[in-house]
Amino acid sequence: MALSEVPYIRWAKYEGLMGRHRLTASAVPPVEWSDIGLDPGSLALTEYSPYGPEEVFQRLNSDWGIDPGGIVLGASASHAHFCFAASMVPQGGTVVHESPGYFPLLDALSLLGVRKVPIQRRFEENYRLDPAELQQKIEAEKADLVLLTHLHNPTGVALSEDEIAGLVEVVEKTGCPVIIDEMYRPFLDPDPGPICLRHPKIVSVWGLNKIHGLPQVRFGWGCGTPQLADQARRIFDSTTLHTSCLTDQVARAAMNHLDVLAARGRKISRGGWAQFSKWLKNHDLPLVEPSGGLTCFPRIPSSVARDGDHFRELCMERDLNVTPGRFFGEPNHVRIGFGAPEEELKVSLQILGEVLEAGRGPAS
Ligand SMILES: Cc1ncc(COP(=O)(O)O)c(C=O)c1O
Repeated sequence: MALSEVPYIRWAKYEGLMGRHRLTASAVPPVEWSDIGLDPGSLALTEYSPYGPEEVFQRLNSDWGIDPGGIVLGASASHAHFCFAASMVPQGGTVVHESPGYFPLLDALSLLGVRKVPIQRRFEENYRLDPAELQQKIEAEKADLVLLTHLHNPTGVALSEDEIAGLVEVVEKTGCPVIIDEMYRPFLDPDPGPICLRHPKIVSVWGLNKIHGLPQVRFGWGCGTPQLADQARRIFDSTTLHTSCLTDQVARAAMNHLDVLAARGRKISRGGWAQFSKWLKNHDLPLVEPSGGLTCFPRIPSSVARDGDHFRELCMERDLNVTPGRFFGEPNHVRIGFGAPEEELKVSLQILGEVLEAGRGPAS
């Protein structure tokens, strides 16, 4: 069993924070206490709940009709994801995962010695999910679990209604369960709601990290059937016992401001994309337009740099940081975050343009 080094997260904690200018962020800037109506002086150190605050269960139930018994609140969305995934896949089992993709969720399963089978989401096909290809892969590889993201990280592309319907059909036909990371789904306006409502073998995971402006609070959840959630709680009970009382109080306050926080996040996303796409009109950087969220995933022209890592080096020479695409399985791409405040984004895009121009050299 080879324990994953979780390369992207290690990079994000150190190299990802380098540079005076950064296009590496994938969450909206944090909110203030007043934005969630909470006086930090009122926080109690003595609260206790076995599985997290009732208000979160109630909110998810009233928003989406999810049975509270099917909800597992985790110490982060990644933790909730792990609780479900580790309780659904056997030791040495087979996991089909999208590539490019957000791999830390898969890395977490390395301790179960899972066999990883990629399904390609292709730039040339606008990163669409091909349900027929997925079915073929599940059957040929005897998959135990499928992992997807919606919106897709790193590209920001949403699953279309046809793709979702196709996916549900595949789950029904094969019986293979799917976990969909929906951290970025609430950026869609209106939020279409979690895909877990479409089939009892689909689990949806999301939380407060990306759109709501509470990235450091470490709080997320997974939703499925009460039976799947009960299994996931076995992992929860052994890996964190119960949620943090401080986090519980912040999460409870956030539940009363969820719509306002999400509206703020969508506004940042819309504004950032408007600014980025205006810039893009004057630059030759091929990419698939994201459906929402805060990131896009351009392909680096070979006339500019050898690959995404080389392109980052060129950017870093000018104090600008971007995320190399190899962390997501596409070395010739970079992930660009466009959720920074307007002035910061303006300066970063100016530098990005200079790197593109310099890399191309003088016109011959
Ligand atoms: C697709 C996706 N899922 C999960 C996470 C992590 O969420 P959390 O910090 O709540 O574990 C991220 C964050 O970078 C992400 O991009």
